[in-house]
Amino acid sequence: MDDRFIPYGRQFIDEEDIKSVVEVLRSDFITQGSKIPEFEEKLASYCGAKHAVVFNSGTSALHGAYFALGLSKNDEFITTPITFVATANAGLYLGAKPIFVDVEPDTGNIDVNKIEEKITEKTKLISVVHYAGHPVDLEKVKLIADKYGLKVVEDACHALGAKYKGEKIGSCKYSDATVFSFHPVKHITTGEGGAVLTNDKEVYEKLLMFRNHGITKDKNKFLNKPQGDWYYEMQFLGYNYRMTDIQAALGISQLKKLDKFVEKRREIAKIYNEAFKNNPYFDIPVEKEYAFHSYHLYPVRLKDKTKKKEIFNKLRQNGIGIQVHYIPVYLQPYYQNLGYKKGICPLAEDFYEREISLPIYPKMEHRDIIYVAKKLLQDKN
Ligand SMILES: Cc1ncc(COP(=O)(O)O)c(C=O)c1O
Repeated sequence: MDDRFIPYGRQFIDEEDIKSVVEVLRSDFITQGSKIPEFEEKLASYCGAKHAVVFNSGTSALHGAYFALGLSKNDEFITTPITFVATANAGLYLGAKPIFVDVEPDTGNIDVNKIEEKITEKTKLISVVHYAGHPVDLEKVKLIADKYGLKVVEDACHALGAKYKGEKIGSCKYSDATVFSFHPVKHITTGEGGAVLTNDKEVYEKLLMFRNHGITKDKNKFLNKPQGDWYYEMQFLGYNYRMTDIQAALGISQLKKLDKFVEKRREIAKIYNEAFKNNPYFDIPVEKEYAFHSYHLYPVRLKDKTKKKEIFNKLRQNGIGIQVHYIPVYLQPYYQNLGYKKGICPLAEDFYEREISLPIYPKMEHRDIIYVAKKLLQDKN
């Protein structure tokens, strides 16, 4: 018995990161200083998008993206049940109704071929999630969106550093906005934090106001005559969703290491893939021909779902912090109270019943990867 605990994900912080944060702490501005625009420019440039707006979480960034794209009361938006609740909740904040579309059994991503049948006159937007870091087939989503005049949001909280048809996720080539999270288990961290990327200037400007109470200080945009240099205007109801300069400094420093982090995640996935090749007990993640996977998660799918609880408990007892991603959103009590019924997305429910996420993070030691692989193969039956 080993007394180490191997988490499913964790941050990688080095001395350079710490130095960057301390520098800001010693400076004049610990929030709303120069680190925010610097992080935004570097993030946009990394992804190949025109604009980035950072937020204090991925959830607030999703809220901002949906708002800036015009999602509002009584609208419907299409999304996946295999995601963190935030993807759907952010639409509920605006009074819109999430419509859940079933998933592909292999990637766990929204089944693009099932989107069209769920579109109604009320549909405004499609929000896809690149589950685990495997991109959704975006070209197909864009074709549907264009046919019906819908907006597309990529919830890319799992997919910083991933690519679709050679193009970085975040370029917004096939979408109106892309959202990232910088929670510690994600590809890079700012503690808490998030961002929206877009190529649309109007959306960009709305996002800037949305994260700051709906306020503008740009005199060219004032609705009323300015009364003096102190003047600012609140033009719609926004929030305080601002990130601090302390966090942005950490983000800038982390971004320099992002490619290495993704490379390390892909190496771990390769070791797992090799260890689990042809095993009769569970299926391993796929990487379709259009995808460059960034492996935020390494989800395996048990062939015999009756074994899940036992395997989960045994691995936990062996110090392996496996997780489950995700309980289909609409099965949560809050969503059940809204009237969503069990059975609306059978493949998502089946995916949930089979899925277990194995530890994967850049700092993961080789002996731990081997230990996890060995234990899973021992405990599978
Ligand atoms: C797919 C997805 N969307 C949204 C979020 C929300 O991000 P945050 O925790 O930064 O608010 C997460 C975070 O876990 C996520 O995994």
